[in-house]
Amino acid sequence: MVETTRPKCITDHFELLQLLGCGSMGQVYLAKAISNKSSNSENAEINERDKPSGSDESFKIQDGYVVIKKMHERHRNDEKFQKLFSQEIESMMGLNHPYIARFLDEGIDNEGTPCLVMEYIPGVTLDNLLRVDKRFKTERIANLLGPLTHALQYAHNRGIIHCDLKPANIMVVQPNTPNESLRVLDFGLARITSKPHFRSERLEGKLSINPSCGTPNYISPDQLRGDELDGRSDIYSVGIILFELFTGELPFPYMETQRILNAHQKQSPPPFSYYGVKNISPEIEHLVQICLSKFPAERPGSAKELAEMFSRALGHDIWLASQPVDKVKSSPMMTGIKLNPPPSLQESPNTIVRRVSAWMPERIAVVKLGGLIQDIGGKIELSEPGLIRILIGNVNPPTFWQKIGFKKLTPDPIQIEFYLFKPQTNDDLTITTVFHLPQGIVAKNPIQWWNRCDRLFKEIKSYLLVSN
Ligand SMILES: Nc1ncnc2c1ncn2[C@@H]1O[C@H](COP(=O)(O)OP(=O)(O)OP(=O)(O)O)[C@@H](O)[C@H]1O
Ligand SMILES: [Mg+2]
Repeated sequence: MVETTRPKCITDHFELLQLLGCGSMGQVYLAKAISNKSSNSENAEINERDKPSGSDESFKIQDGYVVIKKMHERHRNDEKFQKLFSQEIESMMGLNHPYIARFLDEGIDNEGTPCLVMEYIPGVTLDNLLRVDKRFKTERIANLLGPLTHALQYAHNRGIIHCDLKPANIMVVQPNTPNESLRVLDFGLARITSKPHFRSERLEGKLSINPSCGTPNYISPDQLRGDELDGRSDIYSVGIILFELFTGELPFPYMETQRILNAHQKQSPPPFSYYGVKNISPEIEHLVQICLSKFPAERPGSAKELAEMFSRALGHDIWLASQPVDKVKSSPMMTGIKLNPPPSLQESPNTIVRRVSAWMPERIAVVKLGGLIQDIGGKIELSEPGLIRILIGNVNPPTFWQKIGFKKLTPDPIQIEFYLFKPQTNDDLTITTVFHLPQGIVAKNPIQWWNRCDRLFKEIKSYLLVSN
C-alpha cells in the first residue's frame, strides 16, 4: 500500500556551492545540478521553467542553479520523518505559480539527512529590504501585496497554508525597480516540518505552537490557540507584514517571546500614529487593523478579498494589476488516471457520506491515505483503482458481560470506503468518503458513532492537507 522506494541521494545530483543561510529548518545552500538534467526527470524544468509573469529573462531558472535545504540533523536517518517529508513535498511540487518559489525535488544527503531542492530566486528578502528602507510607500506596498495575495489565494484554494509567512520568507525580485515583484518562499514547509511533533504534542496536551517557526513575531493567534487553521491564519501574518511595511515597526516589538505571544492573543495593535505615521489613508490603516483581528471570522475572508478591499481603499485594482500574465500551469504530475465516478451514495442512519476535493494526483492521495490507514490501525479489505475499503475496530458482537454493562463496550467497527474520482486530467481529485457500519451491526450509540466518523473525517482531511 505505502510506497517503499529508497530515498534519492540529492547530493549525488547537485554540487553545493555556497551556504546561503541557516534558517530555523536547517541549512540552506546555493547548488548547481551536476549534469544538465535535474535528478527528477518528471519535474526537470530547472533550465526550462516558464517565465514568471511580469519578469524578464533574468528570472528564468538559469544554468541549473537551485537552492538545497538540508533539514536539521535531528531528522538524520529518521525514517518516519523522511517518509512524511517525502510524501508532503511530492504533493507540494505541484504548487506551480509565478509568485511562489517551486519545490523541485526531495531526498536525502549522503549522511541520510532529508533535503529538499527548491527553485533559486535571485533577489533580496523583504526583511533585508526593510532593514535598509525602513518604511515603504503605499504604492510600493500595493505592488507587492498584489502578487502576495495571488500566491496565497492560489495555495489556499488547494488547502495549503503557509503557516510561517514573514518578510524573511518573501523574496523581492528586481528590487527598487519599476518591475519590483516577489516570490513566496517555503510555502507549506512549516506545516510539514512540525507534523511529526504535532501529533504527539496534541496527545500530550501540550501547546500546539508550530515548533518550526523561527520567530514568533508573525504567528497568528489561531496557531497559538491550536485552532484548526485555514488561509485566514496567513492573512493575520500578512497584517503584521503590512503593519511593518507602513510603520517600519512591529505591532508587538517585545524582546520576550512569551510577551509577544500574549500580545498576539490579547493585545490590540497600536495605531500607526503611535509610530509617528500619519499620512496613510484611514481606510487602509483600518484594513491592516482588521487583518490583525484575533479571530479569523473578523479578518478579510480570503487573500483575494484582502486585495479587493485594499484596492477599494487605494482607488485602483491591485488584484488585476498583478494578475499573472501566463495562465498558471497545472502540475506536471497530474497524469490523468481514468477513474469512474462513485456510485450514487445515500446517507442513512448507518451510512455517512463526505466529499473533499484534493488537489493532488491519485498516486499521492493513495500514499497519503496509506499513512492514515496505518496510523489508525485500519485493515485493508479492498484496494482497486478508484476505490479503497478499510475496516477499523472490532466486528465481534458485544459479549454477555458487555451487554449487562459489567465490561466497557468496545467502539463500533467502522467500514470506510474511499472513492477517488477525477473527471478530467487537470480537474481536482474528488475523494468521497463513506462511513458504514458493517452489515448486521447496529450502532450502540448513534450519536457517538456519528461523532467518531466526524473526527475521523477531520483526520482524513488533515492527512490530505485539504481544508474544504
Ligand atoms: N529559494 C530561494 N532562493 C534564493 N535564496 C533563498 C531561497 N530560499 C532561501 N534563500 C536564502 O537563504 C536564507 C535562509 O533561508 P531559510 O528559509 O532557511 O531561512 P529563514 O527564512 O531565515 O528561516 P525559516 O526556516 O524560518 O524560513 C534566506 O534568508 C534567503 O536569503
Ligand atoms: Mg525561509
